[in-house]
Amino acid sequence: MIHKRVGILTGGGDCPGLNAVIRAIVRKGIDSYKYEILGVLQGWRGMIDGKTRPLGINDVSGILHTGGTILGTSRTNPGKSEADMETVITNYRRMGLNALIAIGGDDTLGVAAKMSEQGVHVIGVPKTIDNDLSGTDQTFGFDTAVHIATEAIDRLHSTAESHQRVMVVEVMGRHAGWIACHAGIAAGADLILVPEFDFSMKDIIEVLEKRKKRGRVASIIVIAEGATLPEAADHVTQDNSVDAFGHKRLGGVGHILAQRIEEETGMETRVSVLGHIQRGGTPTSFDRVLATRFGIKAIELVHEEDFGKMVSLIGANVGAVDLQEAAKKNRLLNPEIYDIAKVFFG
Ligand code: F6P
Repeated sequence: MIHKRVGILTGGGDCPGLNAVIRAIVRKGIDSYKYEILGVLQGWRGMIDGKTRPLGINDVSGILHTGGTILGTSRTNPGKSEADMETVITNYRRMGLNALIAIGGDDTLGVAAKMSEQGVHVIGVPKTIDNDLSGTDQTFGFDTAVHIATEAIDRLHSTAESHQRVMVVEVMGRHAGWIACHAGIAAGADLILVPEFDFSMKDIIEVLEKRKKRGRVASIIVIAEGATLPEAADHVTQDNSVDAFGHKRLGGVGHILAQRIEEETGMETRVSVLGHIQRGGTPTSFDRVLATRFGIKAIELVHEEDFGKMVSLIGANVGAVDLQEAAKKNRLLNPEIYDIAKVFFG
């Protein structure tokens, strides 16, 4: 068997299931292929600074159920500067890597695609709680986030009822309303607002009035952080800062919406912003299994020397798609699922 050294990095926002992917790569890579596995620390930051740690079987023991990533992560973007890209490629060679598995969302995988263009042997593994990556039917982490958001909304029902209030729940979802829509359907939301479909204050008030007419003052509205308010030109952001990939820090749309509902209807309204709680802690069993399948497929692709691919879930099967294509665009909520959600509005 030819000796190979394989690097793994986790980039972008963390996500439940990252450790399950790392564990699967290490177990299969060492046991079946006798590879040496090197963990790159803090995402692309570690490739620039040359910071790594060897990963043996014992290093991945007991991490399957843990949240976060044992390798650390960052939003460092070497794609912004030619010098950083060169440093990454030089370090890839210096580290003696034969392949690099990048686990990340559109940003991390975009950099991986650029490296692949330059001849680096890269495999991508799609990760994000937002579930907005094209090329795969689902990302790991999404199921956990939906589970957490559903539980939170379930709990809000009773307090909304007791006080006869409107509760606005803001969930994550920068470009796409997958979490909002799935958690909203699962928890019986009365209205779900997402970035993909426009809505007006009139639509919102109509739903609340319709409920009031049948004696239901308490209502639950789920809104994705990336949804744009009626008549607003842009997203609601926490401040003016942007990360290395040019993303603004979203957050606060729920508060503005709640204020407008109170002003325009006189209904008492409260807001809950779930934020990073959706990203923390132990992954669901579904995400553990999906992440494990993705990790196994990634190391198999390395073994087959089928580089420039992203592992993906298509229907019930795990396969591989072209990394360049997959990293190009976001996968938005399909109208069919939103139509199902709409049946229960009001
Ligand atoms: O992981 C994706 C995501 O959860 C987005 O929905 C959100 O806007 C972003 O990450 C926030 O992440 P951070 O606060 O780590 O920059």
